[in-house]
Amino acid sequence: MNNILVATENKITTITINRPNKLNALNKETIAELSQAIDTAEDNENTRVIILTGSGEKAFVAGADIAEFADFSPEQGKELAAHGQDILFNKVENCSKPVIAAVNGFALGGGLELAMSAHFRIASDNARVGLPEVSLGVIPGYGGTQRLPQLVGKGRAMEMIMTAGMIDAATAHSYGLVNHVVTQDELISTCEKIAGKIMRNSPVAIGAAIDAVNAGYIDGVDGYQAEIDCFGASFGTDDFKEGTTAFLEKRKAEF
Ligand code: COA
Repeated sequence: MNNILVATENKITTITINRPNKLNALNKETIAELSQAIDTAEDNENTRVIILTGSGEKAFVAGADIAEFADFSPEQGKELAAHGQDILFNKVENCSKPVIAAVNGFALGGGLELAMSAHFRIASDNARVGLPEVSLGVIPGYGGTQRLPQLVGKGRAMEMIMTAGMIDAATAHSYGLVNHVVTQDELISTCEKIAGKIMRNSPVAIGAAIDAVNAGYIDGVDGYQAEIDCFGASFGTDDFKEGTTAFLEKRKAEF
């Protein structure tokens, strides 16, 4: 891996995008490495939660690497978006293990899109986020036109996309785009604390809950029916047996 760092400790895998001199911009190689790291963490039985963050104190990710696509044709542009969505952004969103974005600074363009594909976001108080693509003559291509309205509502998303402006961490919090805002020093420890709470619960049930929540955002899929199916399937799992037995025996469940 040339552009990311991966460390697993206490069942938390932290993936750090590590191109600080380019503000962690997502070039093709970084996207491929992130894709591989998500696959590896999903398969790793030592991983229960994934934290995605950026190296340095300035940026989470300052966008897709502009230098890489500046001379692309329409066909290459389409392929760039389709391939990226397929190998990374949709993969993060549909990961069966919780993915938390620790937004430690600028999250712009593809950076905000990556944070939005995570299951939820915690920001440091210096974070500034936005989708500046229209200032470059393109539109968001890694899911931003879809996930931003889902998270903040259509009107706010339209304003953010059309103005290409950045909002600060407090505004992102008031929009519901990030769940918590903490100091930079506390960012990873806050994510780890939340990960600790998540890890007390059934990983199998959490994976099913991710599927059911995501189903509601897929065109043509009935999210309520997906919930019924996932709910029913839970009853056949060892985790369900352990969770209910532990409750009745007045002890903590061991998942
Ligand atoms: N793609 C490629 N390189 C990028 C980049 C991106 N999205 N964002 C930052 N960089 C590079 C800069 O080119 C610069 O490289 P250099 O030192 O080799 O010239 C380096 O990262 C540092 O960035 P710089 O612009 O000097 O930092 P700054 O503090 O003055 O400004 C930003 C910070 C985030 C405001 C500014 O970098 C920026 O606007 N980046 C692009 C954001 C964007 O439009 N993203 C959407 C892409 S679709």
